[in-house]
Amino acid sequence: MGSCGVLACGFTVFVALWVVRGAVEASPPCDFPAFYNFGDSNSDTGGISAAFDAIRAPYGESFFHKPVGRDSDGRLIVDFIAEQLKLPYLSAYLDSLGTSYRHGANFATGGSTIGKPNETIYQYGISPFYLEMQMAQFNQFKQRTADLYAQAKNPWERSKLPVQEEFSRALYTFDIGQNDLSMGFRKMTPDQLKPSLPDIVNQLASAVQNIYKKGGRSFWIHNTGPVGCLPVNFFYNHNPLPGDLDEGGCLKSQNEAAMEFNRILKERIVKLRSKLPQAAITYVDVYAAKFELISNAKREGFTDSMTVCCGYHVDYTHVWCGFKGLGVNKTEVFGSSCKNPGTSISWDGVHYTEGANRWVASRILNGSLSDPPIPITQACHRH
Ligand SMILES: *[C@@H]1O[C@H](CO)[C@@H](O)[C@H](O)[C@H]1NC(C)=O
Ligand SMILES: *[C@@H]1O[C@H](CO)[C@@H](O)[C@H](O)[C@H]1NC(C)=O
Ligand SMILES: *[C@@H]1O[C@H](CO)[C@@H](O)[C@H](O)[C@H]1NC(C)=O
Repeated sequence: MGSCGVLACGFTVFVALWVVRGAVEASPPCDFPAFYNFGDSNSDTGGISAAFDAIRAPYGESFFHKPVGRDSDGRLIVDFIAEQLKLPYLSAYLDSLGTSYRHGANFATGGSTIGKPNETIYQYGISPFYLEMQMAQFNQFKQRTADLYAQAKNPWERSKLPVQEEFSRALYTFDIGQNDLSMGFRKMTPDQLKPSLPDIVNQLASAVQNIYKKGGRSFWIHNTGPVGCLPVNFFYNHNPLPGDLDEGGCLKSQNEAAMEFNRILKERIVKLRSKLPQAAITYVDVYAAKFELISNAKREGFTDSMTVCCGYHVDYTHVWCGFKGLGVNKTEVFGSSCKNPGTSISWDGVHYTEGANRWVASRILNGSLSDPPIPITQACHRH
């Protein structure tokens, strides 16, 4: 910090940024002291593994070199967010072992939906911790850590707890909705699902309002990705008609439902901004980033977008990544990973590789796909 005071230094930085980038992007960085995430497997950093069976090897092999509760070979977008904010990787709220919540917590669990699910985890892996439960957990987290902080006997005890004043300065991130679509598609066509989307989006808006009521002011909300591009859609659907596919080679009707969800979400966020006068709410077009990557896989240095790195996938016989099962010759095989996960977009047919997550993060975190177009480090400013 040198000899100048905090305010003076802040002012100098502010002027420097203003000069370099011009008035449009003059906002100083927010210096978020913490962030809290809500979502599904796209951002689960250990929740479902702590609550149920742990995610197995070879998950985690590329970066953490062991399974760490993430549905990927390495880091997720939420991990790149942590790096960008210069904060530690988020620990799951459900993971009690050796955990520090000093700089935030992660309420996301693999398989979570926004709406209350009527499937159990034992059917298709839908999590019982849907968004309203994640909110209940957040409210409890805030209350109980306040009590613990007040009772703490020494700095060491306090060091793993959030500082209460920082809840209002924290960033709140969301990445949820994909499972509401995929759960819906199991029971109805994408067109039949569409009328229920406004209600689902309203429940996401309610979650934002809940956090606002508890003092949260900065929100970074991912829209939902192109669910029709997940290779798992083609595991058992062998010969889709050309008319069923969009220009990315993905199931058009599913992607249209995802785009409809996103259109409603974007509109709803505009309304939220006027309802919550002190909130800075950034809508982030993750769909556009993922679809661009999938449509230009080769140009971006990846193999064909439908290649799945991990698992056994031979002649329409599929053994899930990390599991054993019967191969085409009815002998037992293991769903192992490919030699070079870095060149694959899809890790296991549903989840992205670290390489794809890094690519997407590099597109979204600088604000080029956000509304308003601000980088995540400035997402505390209302525009
Ligand atoms: C779940 O909800 C859907 C849509 O509301 C309904 O069609 C389906 O029968 C329900 N399933 C169960 C198991 O209750
Ligand atoms: C299945 O068995 C046949 C005959 O033994 C062999 O040629 C083939 O490579 C095997 N396929 C796989 C995928 O193991
Ligand atoms: C953000 O990063 C992407 C990818 O690196 C780049 O194409 C884009 O121009 C950047 N946008 C801004 C606003 O910096």
